[in-house]
Amino acid sequence: MIKQEDIQKILDATDIADVIGQFVKLRKRGANYIGLCPFHNEKTPSFNVNSARGIFKCFGCGEGGDAVRFLMKHEHFTYPEALRFLAARYGIPIEEEQASPEALAMQSERDAVFHVNEFAQKYFHQILLTDSEGIQIGMSYFRERDLTEETVKQWGLGYCKEKWTDFTDYALSQGYSIDVLVKSGLTIEKEETGKHYDRFRGRVIFPIYSVSGRPIGFTGRILTSDKSKAKYVNSPESIIYSKGKVLFGLHLAKTHIAKQDLCYLVEGNMDAVMMSQQGVKNVVATSGTALTEDQIRLLKRYSSNVTILYDGDAAGIHAAFRAIDMFLANGLKVRIVLFPDGDDPDSFARKHTQADFQRYITEEAHDFIIFKTNLLLADAKDDPVKRASLIKEILLSISKIPDLIERTTYIQQCSSILAMKEEVLAKELAKILRQKQFKDFKETEQEVVNTQEQISDPHVARQEIENPYPDNNQERSIIELLLNYSNIITRQDVITEEDKLETQTFMTASYVISDIKNEGIAFDNPIYQSIIDIYHDYITKNNALPDLNLFIASENETLRKEITALLFENEKYAVSPLWHERYNINIPDRLDPDVVDRHIKQTLLYLKWHKLEQRKTSIQAQLQTPQPEEDMRRLLSEFGFLVDCLRIIRKELNNIAK
Ligand code: CTP
Ligand code: MN
Repeated sequence: MIKQEDIQKILDATDIADVIGQFVKLRKRGANYIGLCPFHNEKTPSFNVNSARGIFKCFGCGEGGDAVRFLMKHEHFTYPEALRFLAARYGIPIEEEQASPEALAMQSERDAVFHVNEFAQKYFHQILLTDSEGIQIGMSYFRERDLTEETVKQWGLGYCKEKWTDFTDYALSQGYSIDVLVKSGLTIEKEETGKHYDRFRGRVIFPIYSVSGRPIGFTGRILTSDKSKAKYVNSPESIIYSKGKVLFGLHLAKTHIAKQDLCYLVEGNMDAVMMSQQGVKNVVATSGTALTEDQIRLLKRYSSNVTILYDGDAAGIHAAFRAIDMFLANGLKVRIVLFPDGDDPDSFARKHTQADFQRYITEEAHDFIIFKTNLLLADAKDDPVKRASLIKEILLSISKIPDLIERTTYIQQCSSILAMKEEVLAKELAKILRQKQFKDFKETEQEVVNTQEQISDPHVARQEIENPYPDNNQERSIIELLLNYSNIITRQDVITEEDKLETQTFMTASYVISDIKNEGIAFDNPIYQSIIDIYHDYITKNNALPDLNLFIASENETLRKEITALLFENEKYAVSPLWHERYNINIPDRLDPDVVDRHIKQTLLYLKWHKLEQRKTSIQAQLQTPQPEEDMRRLLSEFGFLVDCLRIIRKELNNIAK
């Protein structure tokens, strides 16, 4: 927590033109500065910075705000990260609120490890460029692999000399402690003898950077093909580096990923470096580790489209299958490119011209269904048993997709490719989904039991219980309902005043708004809340639905931007009419009344589920701290009530999916 008065000091000291000037070339024009907007592609400048007011605005894409907002958008910082960045630039000391001595010690250890990594990156890079061993061995290796000097510099590549302690000795002479060197993993301490030596000796160095571009670890590649030694050696996990939480190259790729709204994912560091040299800048590597949820979350901050580029060998295909399902489950759109057996993106890129390479990865990027079908079909041919398991395999992937409408689209596509009846596939899918829900349900029950055990034993540490529907996705999909289906008629079950269940027709917006207001649901996202409120006020006052223009022309900038963004996004996700020609698929009519009714019901249930889960988690937390007897009882009874409600909602959700 940064203190409010410090925030004010930081903002007062900030010169917005100076901040933005680090990332965008600005020219003075009148009272303003202008430049090419970094948030969209343009040839003539429409990006304006006004120093006196401390604001920027692009008249091309509409982006605008203050320096903090710029950093959050451009560098993808969080709010506190942006403030810290500014504080460091303008030398404003930050006094963290309630920092415990342990937290301070932790912070200083973090800082020290950061420091020594930065130092090492510079040293290895310098050795590569200026030392005779560095040039003769390290640099010639990179040249042999066709890397240009520009690439070597851009990625800050390096070389660690053969001598056992070259780096460690130098670092010690520059005042770094052996303790920090060992903690960072740069130096290895032999347990038996207490002797120290360089982890990366005799290897070329690929620094691993944080999202903001600070070196946090290293990968060292051996220069020979000596099979007795590991080809790559990596920094161990440290206080600042955890291999499952970083993507190699993201610091350079992030703006390109956001701009092109697409990320290429490769396995090897060399693949990422070579592709970026070949002009494909929106590329990151998993560095040979199995893809993690953390990495997907990182990626999602920049784009929801990813294309996987893996080797065509069995291991590569297996890894691709796994990655596909993980991406689908996280709501991303995924495509796959395979390279001819024996090639990886690096070797393939080197054999082809930039244009040919770029054409290949565009034209060979297949939708996951086509990818799976082609691969599995080749193997299954006409064998009915194999065909059945192929279909199951594809349906399993489709079942991972959280969005109902998308699943339906894929079923239709699948039906035309496999020449199978849509109904049959849909039925099979429903079966898989039911089994999955049954499994989830069992897990939830287990969780309730565990929680009760925890409650009776105050010494058991609280376990993080994963929210099955994270983020503000539920709130967001409610808003999407309002925007997309606002004045569409929907049929929904309601309980009448005589306590009878009845199906009635409503305007979608009125139904959604009144359900939310009746249940007293508050939104976490203030913009969404204000959209709900505006709808509600308008409907009660005028007995009609508000016009979308009311929002688009709103004085409230955030609100306006959010709405335009949501509207744009829905446009983007609309299925291309080309699909119809190419695959002869019937696009499910988004306005099919049954689909819409079910979708509305489901969306509202998910929202309620999410809110109740939130409340449950907060009660669990309160129950872990000592409470007066009376409060304890109240909390426990509410807890029980919540568990019951959640069970009912889950049942209803299951019914809808049937
Ligand atoms: N890797 C690793 N440790 C190993 C082997 C591989 O950490 N012993 C990681 C590296 O990050 C490597 C990635 O896995 O970049 C992919 O491995 P591989 O395909 O074997 O290497 P390439 O990237 O193709 O390396 P090169 O082209 O230099 O042989
Ligand atoms: Mn390779």
